[in-house]
Amino acid sequence: MRLTSTAASALSSNVPLVALLVDDSKPRSLPGGGLGERAATLIARKVFSGKPRETLLLHADGGKGPRALLLVGVGKRAGVGADDLRRAGAVVCTQAATLGANKVLVGSGGKLELDRAALGAVAEGLSMAGYRYPRREAKTTPPAEACFATSLRGAATVLRTARAVAEGNKLARELGDLPGNICTPRYLRDAARKLSTKGGLKFRAYDKKALTKLKYGGILAVNQGSVEQPFLLEMDYKPARHKKTICVVGKGLTFDTGGISLKPAAKMEEMKYDMCGAAAVIGFMQTVAALKPKGVRIVGLVGTTDNMPSGSAYKPGDVVTTGSGHTIDVINTDAEGRVVLSDCIHHAAKLKPDHIVDLATLTGAILVALGSEAAGLFTKDDKLAARLEEASARTGERLWRLPVYEAYEDAIKSKWADVKNSGGRDAGSATAAAFLFTFNNGVSHAHLDIAGTAWDGPKREYNSPGHATGFGVRLLWDFVSNA
Ligand code: BES
Ligand code: MN
Ligand code: ZN
Repeated sequence: MRLTSTAASALSSNVPLVALLVDDSKPRSLPGGGLGERAATLIARKVFSGKPRETLLLHADGGKGPRALLLVGVGKRAGVGADDLRRAGAVVCTQAATLGANKVLVGSGGKLELDRAALGAVAEGLSMAGYRYPRREAKTTPPAEACFATSLRGAATVLRTARAVAEGNKLARELGDLPGNICTPRYLRDAARKLSTKGGLKFRAYDKKALTKLKYGGILAVNQGSVEQPFLLEMDYKPARHKKTICVVGKGLTFDTGGISLKPAAKMEEMKYDMCGAAAVIGFMQTVAALKPKGVRIVGLVGTTDNMPSGSAYKPGDVVTTGSGHTIDVINTDAEGRVVLSDCIHHAAKLKPDHIVDLATLTGAILVALGSEAAGLFTKDDKLAARLEEASARTGERLWRLPVYEAYEDAIKSKWADVKNSGGRDAGSATAAAFLFTFNNGVSHAHLDIAGTAWDGPKREYNSPGHATGFGVRLLWDFVSNA
């Protein structure tokens, strides 16, 4: 979706659709020509009060000015939050799509003034709501362009950023929604390569042969039962002068059957989403490639395979040697994400980054703890936690920090190897995090368990119910751009 800007006077011009964001203060006049006057009257009569996501749609019967005027509420004047604006933006998109408007002109009414952050949030929500799963014909088509009536300095930059972030989010959602027979490890490799080539990132795909040479026995073990090749993907954004390096790592299980420790059939089809960490990293790297932030090297890593049962599959009781030299006692082949990530995190640590952030649909237990409202945040680095929590508050992609007690490390000690891949039912997400920390070689590291938020996430108008959410793309962008 194109995001453009124009002068505020355009709101009264003869266009198909004008959308105004309105808070709960009582505006005496509104732009939008005759329709604006009618809308102001209706507000005075309390037909519309500016509650969050409340809408009022007026159609013109000829004359000058816009042919339709849409008011969207953003709530209390004092406390309009970024997510209220994002959600209002999404409502604008959906209404424009329903009306079949190819372009929508967006402004604010009453006393509401959009500063840069607010404009960015509206634009982001509007654009994100334009996501459509590409392999089915959509019932409505989102507008091709949203044009913001604003005199804000730097509006073009704000909109350029919002667009790149929203497109990254939508790429992640598309990859997530694609079925496991189409979105294979090869498909992820091709998607990562395509954006890297286009955006000038250095790209490398380590295939089975290269992984064998590196002795990355974790990812290779999980891949053993598969007919698909595994890959470790590396997308490297390296600006000339950088003071920092941040490595983001995504779990890319294109399908997780559980392997020999086979999952029950109920909802197993949802395990096509087990690559949503990888999708977030790929979507985010597309955003990075588009916006080219200064001063920070960003390396996106994805470990991808599927997890299948077969005569050649890895088995409970197997002991696997990973790239770092640590050995893993395989208790449960369904705890495969951490086995794949062991090598990815080791690979990240070898690059000596300032921080590693991994995103993984790692445990069902995180759903028990947090549902789909927040992802679990695990880290031993309080400063990193604070920065991620700030990004979380700004983006509305919620994180909730959970503990990293030593007792969780004890729970994964093994008689047969350095660690075992399951610490049992109790604190399942925390013992999984403890497992991952084994492989970071002391690098500052945060693990985000996104199993609850990656698809069918919280009800927000910019998400599509029953689809991938692209969780993490906006969070990561906010995090690195405030690095
Ligand atoms: N991909 C799953 C986690 C998952 C489950 C995500 C349900 C979303 C919904 C992961 O590979 C897994 O199977 N984890 C096991 C670990 C257990 C065997 C220690 C789990 O959570 O049950
Ligand atoms: Mn599993
Ligand atoms: Zn999994």
